[in-house]
Amino acid sequence: MLVYLLFVFLISSQYAAGQFGDFKQDFGYVTVREGAHMFYWLFYTTADVENYTDRPLVVWLQGGPGGSSTGIGNFEILGPLDLSLQERNYTWVKNFNVLFIDNPVGTGFSYVDNNSYLTTTNDEIALDFVNLMRGFYEKNTEFEGVPLYIYGQSYGGKMAVDMGIRMHEAEEAGTIKSNLRGIAMGNAWIHPVDATLTWGPLLLAAGLVDQEGYEEIQAHAREAERLFNEGLYFQSTAQWASTQGAVFRRTTNVDFYNILTKMPSQPDTRSAYEIAREMMIHDNSHMADTKQEVVNLYQLMNNEVKQALNIPDHVTWGSLSNAVFNTLRTDFMKPVTDGIEKLLNETDIIVTKYNGNLDLICDTPGQILWVDRLKWDGAEGYKNAPRNPIWEDNKLQGYYKSYGNFRFFWINVAGHSVPRDNPAGSRAFLRDMTSFG
Ligand SMILES: *[C@@H]1O[C@H](CO)[C@@H](O)[C@H](O)[C@H]1NC(C)=O
Ligand SMILES: *[C@@H]1O[C@H](CO)[C@@H](O)[C@H](O)[C@H]1NC(C)=O
Ligand SMILES: *[C@@H]1O[C@H](CO)[C@@H](O)[C@H](O)[C@H]1NC(C)=O
Ligand SMILES: *[C@@H]1O[C@H](CO)[C@@H](O)[C@H](O)[C@H]1NC(C)=O
Repeated sequence: MLVYLLFVFLISSQYAAGQFGDFKQDFGYVTVREGAHMFYWLFYTTADVENYTDRPLVVWLQGGPGGSSTGIGNFEILGPLDLSLQERNYTWVKNFNVLFIDNPVGTGFSYVDNNSYLTTTNDEIALDFVNLMRGFYEKNTEFEGVPLYIYGQSYGGKMAVDMGIRMHEAEEAGTIKSNLRGIAMGNAWIHPVDATLTWGPLLLAAGLVDQEGYEEIQAHAREAERLFNEGLYFQSTAQWASTQGAVFRRTTNVDFYNILTKMPSQPDTRSAYEIAREMMIHDNSHMADTKQEVVNLYQLMNNEVKQALNIPDHVTWGSLSNAVFNTLRTDFMKPVTDGIEKLLNETDIIVTKYNGNLDLICDTPGQILWVDRLKWDGAEGYKNAPRNPIWEDNKLQGYYKSYGNFRFFWINVAGHSVPRDNPAGSRAFLRDMTSFG
């Protein structure tokens, strides 16, 4: 009997202790649809508070589509441990409960029973997200009512817009007990045609191409725009990729995620589409470093992490990311600016856009174009609002402009991934939105 009890105790304590690293955490799967299983990984805040629910819940979304938040976002950008498993001094966990979600389904540790269950539109992604959050609140009821913020980088920023709309609808209908207060789009893929058309001018102004290079890049970009305008979205995505190819050739491989650096040239027999897809999924600067890191991250996720988090054997972290990207290829070039207008017109959700100024892929000039076209009650007010400096640690970290529920943060000395590239500057938009940071 005693032996039996001891055995039961060992099993259950082992189960309870199932976690990776020393930080208090929760994780699990939610079946968001038939055949579609989404994984989340929560880190409770380490802030000195009586109850962790005194701090907001911040969702972090990686881009791609197909980039894993639990892997890339967590270990490479803002989680409690970095890729060498050392504590990260600026981790967002210091101020917030951070929820990493592997979405769309098929990304990271999320999986589908059949690839026909992968998502094909941003709205499907948003509906899956609402169901993920329903499952999350069911298990973690203490988070009901806690202020919720959705932060998405790159393609994650595009996803955050429709998630905001669908979450708000569900809250109004009383079918979820969340308290969504804001969404943030970090160097986001909001209006892909604007982004693609502004690479050339930015590179020319920065001295990274000459007039001839500029003209070749623009010819490619205008063709992507033409295909888009004709409703040939699938083809427009291929043309976007070939525009990237022209940029690589003409700049001798500028780093798309930070124009101050370059990607190493290497013989590459893959198509422009395959190269561009890999870049979007890995969401990181320096292709060579990325390759190195991805190998390590891939091994870390598929060995130590997989074991610690009791991931089913049949799931391989990252194995479906290309399929996730491919099924969204028709949606890839579509903007979500109408969704942003809808949020500003119809809800009281704060909408924050922040952008690292050294990024090329989701460059700041491309963001300014769609921001200036937004139609909402505050459009005129925003245009006339002052642009203020951001001072942190006695350094000018950037600028911000805000009106009503819309904010724009220009962050200096940062490429694509602002939380990592400029943690001090990041505090400005975190504090503005959440009052912590
Ligand atoms: C955090 O660590 C980085 C290098 O790992 C260092 O450059 C930076 O000064 C540290 N910041 C703080 C606030 O300790
Ligand atoms: C996956 O779904 C497709 C389309 O519904 C179906 O034709 C196929 O048989 C399914 N494959 C498996 C292995 O279930
Ligand atoms: C923390 O707050 C939540 C929500 O208000 C509550 O349900 C929970 O019991 C509290 N926990 C502690 C340890 O006080
Ligand atoms: C938002 O409101 C403005 C008027 O202030 C209107 O012109 C625009 O079409 C609206 N956009 C959406 C998506 O509802």
